[in-house]
Amino acid sequence: MGPFITKYPLDLFALELVQQTNLLLGDVVGIRDVVGRVFNLWDESVPGYEYVLGFYSFGLEENRDFMLAEEMGRQSLAMVPDNPWAVHAVSHVMEMTGRQQGGIRFMRDHEPRWGTSNFANHLWWHTSLFHLDIEEGGDVLGIFDGHLSSEGNAGDKYEELDAAALLWRLNLAGIDVGDRWRNLATKWEPAATDTLYAFNDVHAMMAFVADNRTDAQEKLLTANERYVENASDANVAMSREIGLPFCLAMRDFQAENYGACVDRLLPVRYMTHRLGGSFAQRDVIGWTLLEAALRAKRFDLALGLANERAALKPTSAQNWRCVARAFKGLGNISKATAANARAESLIAH
Ligand SMILES: [Fe+2]
Repeated sequence: MGPFITKYPLDLFALELVQQTNLLLGDVVGIRDVVGRVFNLWDESVPGYEYVLGFYSFGLEENRDFMLAEEMGRQSLAMVPDNPWAVHAVSHVMEMTGRQQGGIRFMRDHEPRWGTSNFANHLWWHTSLFHLDIEEGGDVLGIFDGHLSSEGNAGDKYEELDAAALLWRLNLAGIDVGDRWRNLATKWEPAATDTLYAFNDVHAMMAFVADNRTDAQEKLLTANERYVENASDANVAMSREIGLPFCLAMRDFQAENYGACVDRLLPVRYMTHRLGGSFAQRDVIGWTLLEAALRAKRFDLALGLANERAALKPTSAQNWRCVARAFKGLGNISKATAANARAESLIAH
């Protein structure tokens, strides 16, 4: 945050840049307050107001003020229906509050106006999360192949991030993704030693781990270890505290060392915001931890983690499946059956 933001409160570009920086650095409250700091100086008479509404909507959503966030987002869309930022913010609200069917409808309604920018890929990623939550794996793969597979679209980091994040979730859900990792891992390989941004590195690592590219994994880990020892920029703390532990945890996961994966992630689970990105993006860490706990047969822990997720998002069939598996592991078959029935009731037949 610089002084310019109150000195030039109507500088829309500065506002966007500062909010994006807050998002990259994991300054969660800042994502909201950078807009709040100037919000009352804007109104409908100022060109660009619909963007400010979209920015504020997203900032409010990341701070769990879902009602106001949706109101702002919808106000923005009422002014300019093709504002992708507002579509994005509202989709985040729907993701966090577990409105999967409504989310799919909302996204499909707005899709003709997304355009073909980088951001369109991210909006498709959001759409796929709704499908995944209610066990519509075929739709998820369809979206991946149609919009996230990066075919002939070399070097688009945002698309590659979302593609890796989606395929890793499909792995966690036990859905066969065929050879889709191969192309993606090849695209990530040149970035193995970048150490530019921990958030990117963990997504590169997903691809290297899932495609069994041990050389690329070693390169990434060695570069990161060296970097963490020697550098002192803002990204170092992110790499040290979250980036590296998550990279190592994913390697453990793939090697079926599930207990080790749990031990790496459990101590950092409440610090993951340091990695940057949105709650929806970082949720992959919590889900990896839960899946590892289930596979490590640490069912007490798994039940606690699964219950937490089901309590926050009771409309997610995925969450209830995990609750059911944990109960089954603990030998409580009636509770497992009830949780599975709940999952069934949430998916469209
Ligand atoms: Fe997003």
